[in-house]
Order: sequence, then structure tokens, then C-alpha cells
Amino acid sequence: MLLDGKSMVVTGGNSGIGEAIVLAAAAEGANMVIDYVAHPEEVATLISRIESAGGHAVGVQADVSKVADLHTMIDKAVQTYGRLDVLVNNAGVETRTSLMDTTEADFDKVIAINLKSAFFGTQLAAKQFLAQGSGGLVLNISSVHEDWPMPGNIAYCVSKGGTRMLTRTAGVELGPHNIRVVNIAPGAVNTPINTSTENDPAKLKSLDAAIPLGRMALPGEIADVVVFLASGKAGYMTATTVVIDGGIMQGSVGL
Ligand code: BGC
Repeated sequence: MLLDGKSMVVTGGNSGIGEAIVLAAAAEGANMVIDYVAHPEEVATLISRIESAGGHAVGVQADVSKVADLHTMIDKAVQTYGRLDVLVNNAGVETRTSLMDTTEADFDKVIAINLKSAFFGTQLAAKQFLAQGSGGLVLNISSVHEDWPMPGNIAYCVSKGGTRMLTRTAGVELGPHNIRVVNIAPGAVNTPINTSTENDPAKLKSLDAAIPLGRMALPGEIADVVVFLASGKAGYMTATTVVIDGGIMQGSVGL
């Protein structure tokens, strides 16, 4: 199996892309820590699915916007599996507000959950990797909007632009220790973050029309790339972004 025995933490692992990553990595033999803030029942369901397939998973309730909770989360991996190999900074939110409409509370929330969490998560994971002495991997689930403006979703774009520079700079700083940092930039994915688009047929039609492949990604299509990046087959990739967007960034902008 591609991820045999790797200890892997996924933030926001109970839904959307995070859930797909948890299931795909566990199926490849990784030992999972599923971070969540709410809905423990979703985590319990995931754990029983994984365990009945012969895998290993535990849940940890940690609000990734708080550094103290990030400590708890990393500690959970070390206490349970004896080490940490991969941290996936996946948890994310968006407010769908423009510059003029974004409140201080909106901005602080988006930056704390999307960017601050990835920053300090990367820092804490790197400390653990250095203590273990055999390298490690941080994967940040970013977005095409780390590089591509989305008018009406500005705080999200700012957070993802920051994640892009986090990955590039941390990747350079940590490279000499064989600690890799890679961003994954999905386009539109069929997850709860896009529920409002999915429930609006006109919006969905124009989104699909803007995507050269003509449809949103399935969460599992993002998870498959995560598995590849976390495997020994991607050992030379760091400080960069892998885009998985069905070609949307090359297409028209009518979102
Ligand atoms: C955003 C979605 C958006 C998609 C494509 C994602 O990062 O979360 O709201 O539909 O990018 O633009």
C-alpha cells in the first residue's frame, strides 16, 4: 500500500475534501487522526468505516484557529501512533463577501481558519518532524484562488494567497531538513462549501460552462492526488502548488 503505517493528521477531516482524504489515505494504509470542531457523529461513522476495512483512525476535537488546539491535535497523533509523518491543513471557510461588505469578524474568521491554522500547523508539525529526525510532509489544501482573483470572495482569496507564500517560504526554510511543504489548489469541488452554487441551477450552469472539463471535481479526485503526494513517489516535490481544477483557471471567468 502507498501509505503503509504513515501517521497522518487531516484538519477538518469530517467533511468535504477532508473526509475524502481521510478515507483514501486510510485505504492506502495510513494511520489517521481526524480533526473536527463539530459533528462528532460524522467522525464516529468514518472511524467505524475505516476500522471495519482493517484500518486505523482516531478523532480529535480541535479548533484549528487556536494554536493551543493545534498542539492538542499533533499530540494526539504522537500519543496514538508514536510519530507524525503527514499533516494535511485542509480546514477552510469562505464568506462570499466583497471588499466593501467584509466585516472585521468575517476577515478574522477566514484568516484564522484558513491561514493562521496552516501557518502554526506547519510550524508545530515541523517541530515534531525535527524531533523525529527523518523529514516529513505538510500539505496545504489551498485553492485556485491562491493565484486567481474571485470578486465577491476577497477574504478567502487573501487567505489562500497567504497560503501560497507560506508553502513557498516554509518549503525553502525546511527543505534542508527533508521536510516538504506542498499546496494543492483545487478548483470547484462538489463539497458543502459549494452548496449555494449547487442549489442555484443558473449559477451551476455558468460554473460548469467555465470549466473546460465541464463539471466540478469529486472530493475523491482531490484525495487521490493527496495520496500520491504523501507517497514515496513524490519525494522531490516541495515549495510549490499542484493545481487540480479541470482547467478552470485557463477558461473564462463567468462564475
Ligand atoms: C471556492 C469555491 C469556488 C471554486 C472555484 C473554491 O476554492 O471555495 O467557492 O467555486 O474555488 O472558483
